[in-house]
Amino acid sequence: MSDFSTSLNEVSNEAALKELESEYLGKKGKLKAILAGVKDLSIEDKKTIGVKANEMKKQFITDLEKKAVEIEIAVFAQIEADEAIDVTVWYPSENLGHKHPISHASELLEDIFISLGFKIEDGPQVESEEFAFDKLNIPADHPARDVWDTFWISDDINKDKDIWDRLLLRPHTSPVQIRTMLKGELPVKIIAPGRVFRYEQEDARHTCNFYQLEGLVVGEGVTFGDLKWTLDTVMKQLLWEKTQLRFRPSIFPFTEPSAEVDVSCQICSGTGEVKWKKCSMCSATGWVELLWAGMVHPNVLEWCGIDHKKYSGFAFGMWIDRIAAQRFGVSSSRMFYQNKLKLNEQF
Ligand code: DAH
Repeated sequence: MSDFSTSLNEVSNEAALKELESEYLGKKGKLKAILAGVKDLSIEDKKTIGVKANEMKKQFITDLEKKAVEIEIAVFAQIEADEAIDVTVWYPSENLGHKHPISHASELLEDIFISLGFKIEDGPQVESEEFAFDKLNIPADHPARDVWDTFWISDDINKDKDIWDRLLLRPHTSPVQIRTMLKGELPVKIIAPGRVFRYEQEDARHTCNFYQLEGLVVGEGVTFGDLKWTLDTVMKQLLWEKTQLRFRPSIFPFTEPSAEVDVSCQICSGTGEVKWKKCSMCSATGWVELLWAGMVHPNVLEWCGIDHKKYSGFAFGMWIDRIAAQRFGVSSSRMFYQNKLKLNEQF
């Protein structure tokens, strides 16, 4: 045993460790010889020597494993020391990298909203069914659920959960509205940019994963007029001062009334034509659908503990990818996901 310990102390690399292992535990190893002899011993000796030999074997294995870890740590420490890079050293490079257009558009929007007094909120990408649907006034049997083609988290994980507690990849950023209101602080004035997921057939305008920006304002005397002013101001700042907004009536279970909001197309300045050809960005209509909005439904306020007789609110959602496409004049937001440096490097 002490021979083994002395030899183990001297070992400093993997090869030497392997050698020591086979010297003691290998087919022709010292300990193997002892263990092989056990069967010829008397019952008494088997009990003492046999047990002892087995204990020794276990101890050897534990010690060898410990040493292997020590060697590995030392090897990595050496690699770190040998390959250390001083990241503070100046190095002339023309290729510094840059923000992805979607991050760029998101940050431009965040700056505008912050300048209007909004705070930024965040929510998880793996969300509960309750926050993604039920508390937004979309119960399990509601036909509108089909609009949000949902990726559910696997049955293995969801099988023991109550129905409202099942997990999914959030198909929109609206659950952040619920999370924010449940904090119980009023007034609310937030935006929540983030990634969302939908089980979509991909085409020029649809991807399974994209980015939305949610907005929510709740307080006393908040009106649809405030909503219109806010979206108008933000879009004029983001795009150009002549940008026009068009509100069309729509239906969302969590807002009443609700609207789809079109923005005059930047590519053709709302004329539907570019160089006497039909504008492909807006399909020659002069408008692009970029926003959804409405007054927060009283049910949603109540379920978040807010008295709907005293308080009112507006909410809106935008598709950051499409806004980025408008702002940077790219015809399909899907191109942002193709990792083409030629495209990304232009922004
Ligand atoms: N969450 C909706 C969607 O993904 C968009 C939306 C509509 C958000 C109306 C809102 C809203 O805040 O008020 O389709």
